[in-house]
Amino acid sequence: MAVSLGLEDVFIKYTGLTFIDGNAGVLRYRGYDINDLVQNTGFEEVCYLMTNGELPNSQQLAEFKKSVKEHYKLPDHVMELISDLPREADTLTMMETAFASLSSGDYQWNKENDRKQVPKILGENLGIISNIYRHKMGMGLQNPDPKYDYAEAFLRNCFGNADEKKISAMNAALVIYVDHEVPASTTAALVASSTLSDMYSCITAATAALKGPLHGGAAEAAYKQLLDIGNVDNVENWFKTNILDGKRRLMGFGHRVYRTYDPRMKIFKKLATTLEQTDEQKKLFEIAVKLEELGVKEFGGKGIYPNTDYYSGIVFNEIGFPIYMFTTLFGFSRVLGWLSHITEYVEEEERLIRPRAVYTGPDKRDFVKIQDRK
Ligand code: ACO
Repeated sequence: MAVSLGLEDVFIKYTGLTFIDGNAGVLRYRGYDINDLVQNTGFEEVCYLMTNGELPNSQQLAEFKKSVKEHYKLPDHVMELISDLPREADTLTMMETAFASLSSGDYQWNKENDRKQVPKILGENLGIISNIYRHKMGMGLQNPDPKYDYAEAFLRNCFGNADEKKISAMNAALVIYVDHEVPASTTAALVASSTLSDMYSCITAATAALKGPLHGGAAEAAYKQLLDIGNVDNVENWFKTNILDGKRRLMGFGHRVYRTYDPRMKIFKKLATTLEQTDEQKKLFEIAVKLEELGVKEFGGKGIYPNTDYYSGIVFNEIGFPIYMFTTLFGFSRVLGWLSHITEYVEEEERLIRPRAVYTGPDKRDFVKIQDRK
């Protein structure tokens, strides 16, 4: 019996959300190219598109933003919970905990109402992630200011201010990470939702799957590589020792679906140069460019190219975030993708995800009592 390890090339649902052509390097949300969306929209507009199927007109967008802003304020018990967590805890663990705490035991899926939950959860998401940052930084917790739209309110709640370039880069990063069909985290959310578990619990399941370095954790790992290399003159030597001779994987390279450049990576690379760079950030960018060249030369023939996480850490750092926030920032945006997929799945298919395993253990054996065992 054939087993598809890693569910490779197994199609688990129909979707009208995200289209990927891994050979041509194309990504579209509901038919719109990712480049057009990044250039012409903001995060809330894309959230509306994903949730409702069409781009909003001005009035619909204003109403959607208002309904998100109404939920920027977190319940007190969530604020207390975040501030009680050890400051050194992993930020994804904090995210899981905060979302789990919003789950109420009596939740029932309801086809009429589930999409209406999306603005509420997005508003809470903003409060959670900005306050995780505040807590890590030793600042007191505070609710985001509903005067501002999503990206700006987020940056202001983290840093106290936000300039136009950073708001625009944050919006772009949020749009880029919104959805990517059914990677490990979205699949985890779908498995949970297929049991008719509640939306918050599905987000918690997805966050746990996002954490690892083979998925969301890659931006952190890719950035740490650049720090490890330290200087553009060391790139060749580092690449030979660690990747070619050391047989380590080049982090931020390779993808299960893309066999060419990930279109999101190209946007992040460009964004990295539109933001102001310190000397250190300039140096890391130069190292990344040189390493990209070597990586593509070595692995391009096997269809292994830089993925979205290769330059995203540089952009997040230029916006002002430390390494430990990178994966959480990915999750901050992807919450919308998880919600979109689970609503689509439960509304249209509602089938319990319960795969099988091929048994390879021992045949039937006689039971041996503990006192008779060697
Ligand atoms: N560096 C070096 N070699 C690689 C890399 C890499 N980054 N990625 C794949 N390969 C090689 C493997 O060693 C393997 O070689 P082999 O056939 O000689 O044994 C071959 O390519 C196929 O690798 P698989 O692991 O089978 O490919 P898979 O589709 O499972 O890989 C993955 C996808 C896990 C993302 C992989 O490319 C990887 O580990 N990349 C580094 C981590 C990373 O950047 N993850 C982020 C993914 S994007 C995202 O989640 C947003």
